[in-house]
Amino acid sequence: MKPITISELLKQDASLHEVEVKGWVRTFRANRFIALNDGSSLQNIQCVVDFENTDEDILKRITTGAAVHIKGELAESQGKGQSVEIKVSSIEILGDSDPETYPIQPKKHSFEFLRENAHLRTRTNTFSAVMRLRSALSFAIHKYFNDNGFHYVHTPIITGSDAEGAGEMFRVTNLDAKNPPLTEDGNVDYSEDFFGKETNLTVSGQLEAETYAMSLGKVYTFGPTFRAENSNTSRHLSEFWMIEPEVAFMDLAGNMDLAEDFMKSVITYILENNAEDLEFLDQRLQDEDKKKPQAERNELTLLEKLRFVVDNNFKRVSYTEAIDILRNSKPNKKKKFKYIIDEWGADLQSEHERFLVEKHFKCPVILFDYPANIKAFYMRLNEDGKTVRAMDILFPGIGEIVGGAQREERLDVLKQKMAVLGLDEEELWWYLDLRKYGTAVHSGFGLGFERLVMFATGMTNIRDVIPFPRTPQNAEF
Ligand code: 4AD
Ligand code: MG
Repeated sequence: MKPITISELLKQDASLHEVEVKGWVRTFRANRFIALNDGSSLQNIQCVVDFENTDEDILKRITTGAAVHIKGELAESQGKGQSVEIKVSSIEILGDSDPETYPIQPKKHSFEFLRENAHLRTRTNTFSAVMRLRSALSFAIHKYFNDNGFHYVHTPIITGSDAEGAGEMFRVTNLDAKNPPLTEDGNVDYSEDFFGKETNLTVSGQLEAETYAMSLGKVYTFGPTFRAENSNTSRHLSEFWMIEPEVAFMDLAGNMDLAEDFMKSVITYILENNAEDLEFLDQRLQDEDKKKPQAERNELTLLEKLRFVVDNNFKRVSYTEAIDILRNSKPNKKKKFKYIIDEWGADLQSEHERFLVEKHFKCPVILFDYPANIKAFYMRLNEDGKTVRAMDILFPGIGEIVGGAQREERLDVLKQKMAVLGLDEEELWWYLDLRKYGTAVHSGFGLGFERLVMFATGMTNIRDVIPFPRTPQNAEF
């Protein structure tokens, strides 16, 4: 007989047949009832120990957190809360757990405490549900692209170019930090570095993905992304995962259609395949809400929110319209915003994005046609000469979840923009080549994976949806 997972076991009929499971003890009550979990699902299986015929020493070692191997009969459960249970015939302690020091006690722990124990926090219901959903979403993403004729491209993690032109990158070097080689004018001489030039961890796979879109047609990347911005917020990580599709012959309207269809599809996938974990998180949030004053409670439950996104069209609004709405909004007039909007051209802060999504439109919003000078160099200039074909998708509770654009495919215009921004043509010679050889309209976007997981699970701190968060001053584990 082979051990099977608890989730498989719970689907079986109680016919008093022999079963075998391995897992970790969540609780052990009355010297009889083990709640056993193996991570296959949220569900524990109740294992009933015949304590009269079990060694006292073994009974003592059945403690919260211990790893055990159990054999027994699957029987109909007498107790409440489960339909089947295992009548234990043999139990082997695979790994003891000291109940005095084991941090994950069967009680409520704060998320702060669990972050400090990130290596053990997936042994809780909340974190195991979140991480199973993270895995399911990741699969749904690959499935969506595979089903729709996209090719998966592995873009490099070490790069020599700054895709976003923002300069907030982590340097990759093996020069001696104490005694680096210097050029004649006293700067560090990167020509002596490992790659013979200055290199960094990538902030986006987009530029390389564009090269593949211009040959394979429809591509996407899904990989780790690094930003050295010193943003200590609940929505920023220094290392996060980004999904970046890039499609040849597609304009901005097509890009918006793709992004909307894609987001709805992956959310539908988890609604259909991960109901148990979602229902658990939905209930958790409802319980949290009950403790809050009425005004601070969520209008929709987690499941309602997810269904709402799937069932409703995203509202498409130009930057110019958005500025008008914001300028005339109550919080702007009453100076409630930290950053008051008074002129066209202002960059939108998260308070503005959230006002548009949560208060004004009350649905996901796609903002497009932003002022050229607040967006990256590669975005296609509009006929008006001052806006670019950019789009950001804003989600309730999250703010910006997607950023994308139609790309500038005209060589002369791209060169002009790079010159204005002081970007080196020589460094991006290969990117410019795409505009010399068979250039074409093309578009793409980037979805921050952790922001999607936040939305899908209702978690409010991005550190709680990635196994081991990297943020300023923090790279434990
Ligand atoms: O808007 P961003 O910077 O766009 C790009 O990098 C483009 N190259 C994407 C493309 O067109 N292919 O980043 C895209 C998304 C953001 O909307 C946000 O969801 C997420 O990536 N993101 C972050 N997520 C967590 N922590 C951070 N520090 C993030 N920075 C961006
Ligand atoms: Mg952005």
